[in-house]
Amino acid sequence: MPTLDSLRHQAQLAFIASGQDFELGHPGLCPRNPTQLAALVPGDDGVLATLSSGLTAWVHHLEQGGVGYAIKKARSQCLVQNLDGQTSFLNELQRRRDIAEIQARHGGFAGMVPTLYGSLAHGIIVSPWIEGGTVQQWDERKLLQLFDSGAELVRHGLFEWDYCPGNLLDDGRQLWLFDFGYMYRFDPLRQFNSAGMGNDVPQHHLAERFETRNYFAWLLQLEQAQGQDATLAAFRLEKEIALECYLRLRADLNAAGATLDVRDWLDGIIKHWRQALKGELEALYWQEGWRSHRLDLDDDLRGQTCTPRTLARCDWLLDAVAQHHDTLRACGALADETVSSDRRTLLAHYRQLREQAEGFQVTT
Ligand SMILES: Nc1ncnc2c1ncn2[C@@H]1O[C@H](COP(=O)(O)OP(=O)(O)OP(=O)(O)O)[C@@H](O)[C@H]1O
Ligand SMILES: [Mg+2]
Repeated sequence: MPTLDSLRHQAQLAFIASGQDFELGHPGLCPRNPTQLAALVPGDDGVLATLSSGLTAWVHHLEQGGVGYAIKKARSQCLVQNLDGQTSFLNELQRRRDIAEIQARHGGFAGMVPTLYGSLAHGIIVSPWIEGGTVQQWDERKLLQLFDSGAELVRHGLFEWDYCPGNLLDDGRQLWLFDFGYMYRFDPLRQFNSAGMGNDVPQHHLAERFETRNYFAWLLQLEQAQGQDATLAAFRLEKEIALECYLRLRADLNAAGATLDVRDWLDGIIKHWRQALKGELEALYWQEGWRSHRLDLDDDLRGQTCTPRTLARCDWLLDAVAQHHDTLRACGALADETVSSDRRTLLAHYRQLREQAEGFQVTT
């Protein structure tokens, strides 16, 4: 049986090969016509800035008539060297259409950037410009909004894989999602996520994705700046919010007819967090921390998209083995390791992965 990913890749590559356009929104909502927007270059009239750090696209901040627009222009070659990367622009257009349709039917999605116009043939996506910046400091409001948006997506059968810092913007009131290149469809009543066959990779879920791509990298900085107590307090806050979110999600999916498989899976996660929050939270911190840094390192190595942040994660893993090997072992954090979990072997293994990550540093 083919995986959900391979079915999606096949359909998306066939669509791209057919040469058809994929459009959404209305060209009439664009500040200039699509051909002009596709031809924008840095420094053009009205272009206040051009962000070229994205791996899939360039984003121009265009101002016209006192209104700000984000013009996302696909790179001719995506810098992510795999099929997900090669299909990510079409995928983003498709998911933006899904989101617009869900919003038209059910409302909601307060934290989702709307699409004014998008076209595969022009290689552009036009959205309102969000004034604000990346999240420097996670707090209760931002975490609540992150989990609200994430759970809303899950309920509607959309699984977002990449909650990395560069994919979230905060304007001081609302946390925004605006990059949907790695969001895939799945059936939330029967499946856990969009990996494998949908229900054979249970380790990936909303909180895991956020912790792996984002929160543990932030906790790493917090630990360096403010120490272990502040880090554990921030971890506790996030887990309490995640727990509340999962209890609501569990109830909603149950009401919508989720299978026993999905309900049991959520119950297992909820029970595990609840116990940890009542008692010794540190074991859960090492468990989730190890998993987060380990998986994110895997992602970066697989996509050959390593950054200085990847190296910092390697160092966290190496430090954890060097200083907390017994704790890691006792809390089960090392259960999924592919090499022997003794200290010396793990150190050698992660030193080797760090060297690989040094070789895969991307410059955009
Ligand atoms: N609507 C918007 N308002 C303000 N800034 C935006 C908007 N859309 C994108 N940006 C900025 O442009 C950057 C790149 O955008 P985006 O993440 O969509 O591109 P990308 O090429 O898909 O990135 P990657 O593939 O690396 O995730 C963002 O980090 C953000 O700073
Ligand atoms: Mg992005």
